[in-house]
Amino acid sequence: MQQFDLIVLGGGPGGYLCAERAQEKGLHTALIEERALGGTCLNEGCIPTKSLLYCAKQYDHALHGAECGVTAENVRYDQRVAVERKDRVVTTLVRGVGATMKAKGVTVFQGRGTILGRKDGVVSVQVGEETLQAPKLVIATGSEASVPPITGVREGLASGFVMTNREILALKELPASLCCIGGGVIGLEMACYFAAVGVKVTVVEMLPKIAGTTDPEICDILMKTYKKQGMTFLLSTGVKAITETGVEVEANGEKQTIACDKVLLSAGRRAVTKGFGLETLGVAVERPGIVVDEHLQTNVPGVYAIGDCNGKLMLAHTAYREAEVAVNHMVGIKDRIDYSIIPSVIYTTPEVASVGETEQSAKEKGLQVKVVKAPMRMSGRYLAENPKGDGFCKLIYDTKNKRLVGVHMVGAYCSEMIYGAAMMVYSKLPIEHLDKIVFPHPTVGEVIREALCMI
Ligand code: NAI
Repeated sequence: MQQFDLIVLGGGPGGYLCAERAQEKGLHTALIEERALGGTCLNEGCIPTKSLLYCAKQYDHALHGAECGVTAENVRYDQRVAVERKDRVVTTLVRGVGATMKAKGVTVFQGRGTILGRKDGVVSVQVGEETLQAPKLVIATGSEASVPPITGVREGLASGFVMTNREILALKELPASLCCIGGGVIGLEMACYFAAVGVKVTVVEMLPKIAGTTDPEICDILMKTYKKQGMTFLLSTGVKAITETGVEVEANGEKQTIACDKVLLSAGRRAVTKGFGLETLGVAVERPGIVVDEHLQTNVPGVYAIGDCNGKLMLAHTAYREAEVAVNHMVGIKDRIDYSIIPSVIYTTPEVASVGETEQSAKEKGLQVKVVKAPMRMSGRYLAENPKGDGFCKLIYDTKNKRLVGVHMVGAYCSEMIYGAAMMVYSKLPIEHLDKIVFPHPTVGEVIREALCMI
């Protein structure tokens, strides 16, 4: 029996940062992970996709560099090399997380943790032969790909014809064609990668638009650009069945079969709340995940749930912040998370980044807003690098309270610019102050300044 102040179940971004912060604040912490440290983000999500998308960009530059005076013959893309490079990047980062845990004094247990129960305010967790005990427990078990009840989907997953984000990132040979079920963030990033390296990609989306709640004008630009990149979109289209050679779909009562070599299941993710003894604690679980309060604490005192498993906002950076808030609550530091200022990014070409209210959500909340839009081409740097790009920066300004409530961008570099916009929304600074911020020239970020001047 080993005693700790805190046990963290799950070593993804939420779990490992929670363990790190807790140890820094003097809590003797155990971190349990059955697969690799870093979770979905590091091993089969954020980081591997960025590595592959970077390789695809290099390929694209080699193919289409003539305008910049770069020409090359026999340009080929080697998926195996790109995947091996991605694996090296992932390994380096996973080792880095392990080294940080060691340096901070976190005790890492490799294995599957099972909650045994809670008695006299102490939680017991079994991992391998060991039983760990602590008065505090953080559940950070993440999420898994949703598997919709489509005929043939289980058989497809078993045969390898259908893949989730996990398997597709390990594909060492490119399929000739790919059908993505779901045009959300995962579907689009994967579609963008595979289309860029020459795969015939079809995206099937049951809603009338791609990219979820993304600003509709941005969605229009995405659709236009993706189509130019060779992707096909079937919107308002339902999937009826997956056969051994394709996907049967239906739209407006008309059926068709999309023949393809592989299928990606990117129809959403669901919180992991079962199979590790959570029920022994009496923790409340409702769709979309473990129920938590503003401190990330569940209905059981001392038991917290952070990251995808609470289903609030399935993003690695949300999990980071939730980890900090939960640890602060444990040690009596006042803190709370503001979900309204968490930025989101789609890392396709072009990139999409947004924070805060959209035009629609602001109107639904009864806010009086002024919407301004600056084309990215107003930035000299952007134009120098993307002469044909039609990106923009849109600001949603609350005219009554005189503050910026939302920023939505599409175009190169916006993933790197959005944190500045998030600071503006978070700080609630009046426009007179925002106008005084000096942006370095020439940068693409200057487009935010241009948009501010339009308010
Ligand atoms: P998602 O919820 O973003 O998109 C799923 C899409 O699939 C929706 O548009 C939905 O209408 C559609 N869909 C569902 N069932 C369908 C069916 N049977 N036929 C056709 N379409 C169907 O989920 P996704 O893309 O799987 O991503 C999961 C989570 O991972 C999200 O919360 C996302 O935020 C996160 N993520 C974030 C990334 C980022 O920040 N860049 C990258 C990848 C994932």
